[in-house]
Amino acid sequence: MTQPSPDNSPFRSQAVVGLQWGDEGKGKAVDVIAPRHDAVVRYNGGANAGHSVVVGGERFALHLMPSGILTPGVKAVIGNGVVVDPIQILAERDGLEAKGVDCSGLVVSDRAHVVMPQHKAEDGIREALLARGVGEQSGGEPGRLGEIGTTRRGIGPAYAEKVNRGLAVRVGDLLRPGTLVERVALGCELRNAMFRDVGVDVEPLDAHAIAAALIEAGDRLKPCITDTVYLLHEMLAAGKSLLFEGANATLLDVDHGTYPYVTSSSCSVLGIGPGTGVPASRVGSVLGVMKAYTTRVGAGPMPTELDSPVAEHIREVGREYGTTTGRPRRVGWLDLVAAKYSAMVNGATGLCLTMVDVLAGLDEILVCTAYEMDGERTERFLPDAESLERVRPVFESMPGYGGDVGSAERRTDLPANAQAFIERIESFVGVPVEIISVGPEREKTILS
Ligand code: IMP
Repeated sequence: MTQPSPDNSPFRSQAVVGLQWGDEGKGKAVDVIAPRHDAVVRYNGGANAGHSVVVGGERFALHLMPSGILTPGVKAVIGNGVVVDPIQILAERDGLEAKGVDCSGLVVSDRAHVVMPQHKAEDGIREALLARGVGEQSGGEPGRLGEIGTTRRGIGPAYAEKVNRGLAVRVGDLLRPGTLVERVALGCELRNAMFRDVGVDVEPLDAHAIAAALIEAGDRLKPCITDTVYLLHEMLAAGKSLLFEGANATLLDVDHGTYPYVTSSSCSVLGIGPGTGVPASRVGSVLGVMKAYTTRVGAGPMPTELDSPVAEHIREVGREYGTTTGRPRRVGWLDLVAAKYSAMVNGATGLCLTMVDVLAGLDEILVCTAYEMDGERTERFLPDAESLERVRPVFESMPGYGGDVGSAERRTDLPANAQAFIERIESFVGVPVEIISVGPEREKTILS
């Protein structure tokens, strides 16, 4: 894997986003291209993300930490659009430092919102309520709504708190204990009353202990906390280049994903402006990351989902278990209708195709190129969950490939059928494949 020569254009800042339902391998893509940039910037999500990167035979699971932390000399910036669990980010930093990773490049926006224990508790209780339903006595059908399947990291309640304003705590507030203590106390009072009223049996939240832990975490984080909007603009003015790392993925985007089975942030490139203060016009190119098949964790429609030995094969070979929750991921064939929609929403200029090695050895590979709904055929994605639930995938069959995919160094080293598979993806989505990943390690990457 040789890096291309540096691009000196003033618009060489780049974005990396997931085109499916997450876990596409964005962490690895960021890790591979981070050396071309001066900072890696997270703009959305929180510790719900799970990016795994293998460097020097060692696997690093990152949740809040930008994947660029593993590239020496590159700043790792957590922008204002991220929801930060300060205890979690410190734990990740400690873990990385214990493995010898230099984390001095970490910078956290003073305007990023803080995820607190009351948010995590509320996340779990909302899920339990959805699973339980309103019950027959209220005229409802028990369990009809069903849970979203969140990671229970408090993401939704923290973003709701941000929009509700009064009781929210921002990272900068961790350094101002006066207001923090009051907001935490009221936030806990509100949740404790709510939990009692809906009849859930949980330990009441201890506002004192929560505030004390947050103040202590703020003290440790203090040297990293800054106004990242000015920092990023100063870097751009100095001719530096930024890599925006999208967390979660486009089909989980709160506006453009399969609502309501989505996360609570703008995961597509459209979230970069509000989440960093850097306008979209400064992003020169967009790398859309997609797997050679589809996976999903949590509930919600997935038209190409498989329930067969092929799914088991892919899950085992691809280690398809959640990095954040350990849940087995749902597995299906590649949905090109969905990928094309996501590429459109993001204005993807290039694709990074991952897990190409995982399909090796299958006799036949299916790709979904249209949907059928109510007897009509369509090539449009339907981001509304109830509509998408009703479609049937229309598949195209392609011959499988075997051979030693993992040791290919150039695209032309891949078996002919694998090359044809990649060409079909490019022709359908209308975007060139620029990076092919043929194994979890940094070196198992083809830059084409
Ligand atoms: P939340 O973000 O924890 O609220 O979860 C909402 C939905 O998004 C659930 O289905 C999660 O499994 C899914 N989700 C959130 N983050 C990721 C991710 O990074 N990868 C895959 N799925 C995710």
